[in-house]
Amino acid sequence: MSHTRSPETTTPAPATPVTADDGLTALPHGMGWVVGSRALAVRLLGDQRLGVLEPRPVMEHLATKVDPGLRPLIDEISSFAERVMLQTGHDRHQELRRAFGGFFDADAVEARAPRLRQAAEEIVRPFAAAGGGEFMTAVAFPYAVRTGARLIGFTDAEYRLLHKLSQQVALVAYAARVEDPAEAVRAGHAALVRVREILADARAVAPRDSVLGAWHAGEIGLPDADVEANAVMLVQASLETVAGMLGNTAVRVLDTPGALADPVLLEERIDAALRAEPPLKTLERVVREPFRLAGREFRAGQVVSVRVADANRLDDAPVAGRALFSFGWGAYRCLGARLARHQARELFQALHRAAPDATYADAGAAVERVRHIRFDMPRRLPVRCAPPVAEAAPPPSGVLPDAHTEVPTEVPTDVLTDVLTEALEEDDVDRPLTSLEREVTYVVLTENGVTVPEDLRGPTTIREWVTWAASARG
Ligand code: HEM
Repeated sequence: MSHTRSPETTTPAPATPVTADDGLTALPHGMGWVVGSRALAVRLLGDQRLGVLEPRPVMEHLATKVDPGLRPLIDEISSFAERVMLQTGHDRHQELRRAFGGFFDADAVEARAPRLRQAAEEIVRPFAAAGGGEFMTAVAFPYAVRTGARLIGFTDAEYRLLHKLSQQVALVAYAARVEDPAEAVRAGHAALVRVREILADARAVAPRDSVLGAWHAGEIGLPDADVEANAVMLVQASLETVAGMLGNTAVRVLDTPGALADPVLLEERIDAALRAEPPLKTLERVVREPFRLAGREFRAGQVVSVRVADANRLDDAPVAGRALFSFGWGAYRCLGARLARHQARELFQALHRAAPDATYADAGAAVERVRHIRFDMPRRLPVRCAPPVAEAAPPPSGVLPDAHTEVPTEVPTDVLTDVLTEALEEDDVDRPLTSLEREVTYVVLTENGVTVPEDLRGPTTIREWVTWAASARG
């Protein structure tokens, strides 16, 4: 239901073309079309006869597959999903987009720059001081988490957990196809309940300049349910996209001598990465009214999937100048595009300050990339920062202390301890964790390859979790 769905379940358009030709390729079984040309992308993404994927019809179909007693749960999930701006039709979309626009205009992004810089420093300095490491897990994702979390008004831990839970809610859209749809509905609903609890807690204490803080102060002119759904959407919209852009840019910057130091070259590399490796690979639409184009019939209900990297190619028809499709096109173009570019600038400038000689550590070897139906980014990006920075520089001017940020004072030796203290924003490894932190711990350990049984009860502190994980991994 969101534009950042889980890899295993992303549908409805498996991009397996059956015939290929001039930029329009038919999907199997008449399901729709894959668009691989710039001119057709412009034409189709601006066409009112195409619309975004709206959740209601999918959920109505699901309701026919399960016990009627589950109807209230399905309705609640539907009502949440259909408030997400990227899943709403024209008029409603305009209203929602306007209400959030103020967080993303030039002034708002400018005002966030010191916070972005601070987050970049906090994440890059320990990385550089340690001589480098794996860029995606140590820099790109933590920076995307921290900047996204602060914008919306969450702690890092809340943001991570919400990201996971909102994916579980989104999976309900595919429940009709799984073996036990009822169970999927119940699990999705339980995740939604948890999402709401986290939102309510975070809203009460969120900084005034964040989305939740503005909501709490009554400054967003929308019903609570609309703000809720779109705050969660912002979490989904700002993680893999930003981390992907940073990873893809890092590949191009770190193997080009001087690119880190030169703002013009850096800007060019950010652009080149966005163009050639768009973090979000496809844009999906549904045909609402039938029409003919390029000799083909577009039937109502068919899916149209635009391949962003193909649409970005400048060797195609000379349309739309040098426009990039990586942030979308038309009415639903990414609200966070300006912010995202600022994020990249601040991150690489911070890297340059902390480790001017940072390089890709596997020079000559091909970069290992994720295999994901929607995202394009490196899986692993080993980076060497030499020589290590001995003394941390003072914080950049204009950066205020951030009450939401608790940076660990010591760099823990054990990697898992490091990862957990970072994710939980807690440097006391012996403090018993709250239930929220326990859930985050599950998520973080799983992300780091440690499978945690659902019913595990033993560990209560970070130290105990790490000890358990070490024994579980043998
Ligand atoms: C490099 C980073 C990013 C990329 C590549 C990216 C890409 C996109 C794309 C392709 C769309 C349009 C999807 C469609 O038309 O189906 C989109 C929409 C959106 N993005 Fe981003 N995005 C990025 C970062 C962000 C950030 C940081 C935020 C906010 C914190 C954000 C918020 C949004 C929102 C709210 C929409 C929906 C706009 C609407 O429905 O009118 N994005 N993004």
